[in-house]
Amino acid sequence: MDSIVNYKIQISKSLEELSEKFAQLLIEKVNSSKNIFHLALSGGTTPKTIYEHLATHHQSTIIWDKVKFYWGDERCVAPNDAESNYKMAMESLLSELPISAGNIFRIKGEIDPYLAVDHYSSQVLQQIKIKNNYPRFDLIMLGVGEDGHTASIFPNQKELLHSKNISAIAVHPSSRQKRITLTGSVINNASNIVFIATGKNKSKIVDSIINQKDNYEDYPASFIRPIDGELYWLLDEHAASDYSD
Ligand code: 6PG
Repeated sequence: MDSIVNYKIQISKSLEELSEKFAQLLIEKVNSSKNIFHLALSGGTTPKTIYEHLATHHQSTIIWDKVKFYWGDERCVAPNDAESNYKMAMESLLSELPISAGNIFRIKGEIDPYLAVDHYSSQVLQQIKIKNNYPRFDLIMLGVGEDGHTASIFPNQKELLHSKNISAIAVHPSSRQKRITLTGSVINNASNIVFIATGKNKSKIVDSIINQKDNYEDYPASFIRPIDGELYWLLDEHAASDYSD
């Protein structure tokens, strides 16, 4: 079944190979960018190896001082909490790069969530040019959960896909943990959206989302369709094992 969304898919034999593919994509996009490159990082566990790969092998191949760093979502925890997406990215990548702290725009998970949304949304608005009525990130990196969530847009909060806001409060459906997430309106406005998924446990959801089949409409990641940007899926062979185009 043809997907109604145009996308580019790259399947790798290992997370190491996938990490290098992501690095090559960054090299292409960042180094050719005329201006500052606004990059939103993903949370979760998959990206950690990718960030470590970038820190180890790509200190000088990517023009890092062109990049301003953001997050697609953050848990409402302190920045030194083990659950913090900021902490994970700082330790595995950002602290290893020759970048200025002024180029890092973290979500303040430790403050009142309403204030965190206001603060993050105003920072994004201050830094990033508007196109199609929303700030246009150059690249947003996303994971996908087994329930089809992405960033922190969960199946029971699909209204966040079409929110007119830049960021919003979300609640994890099982842990009830509060999160701050970019909305689907902002994500779909990005120039490049890069999904990363690994592991057999993602294979069914990945096939359903990419090919818009089975219960794909239950899954928020199915509604990530760039308005006029590029959509990439970087998969390992386990996550791609049910996928066929
Ligand atoms: C988070 C992420 C979340 C993650 C998916 C996939 O804060 O946890 O934003 O959307 O990308 O849950 O996580 P894994 O890559 O760890 O499977």
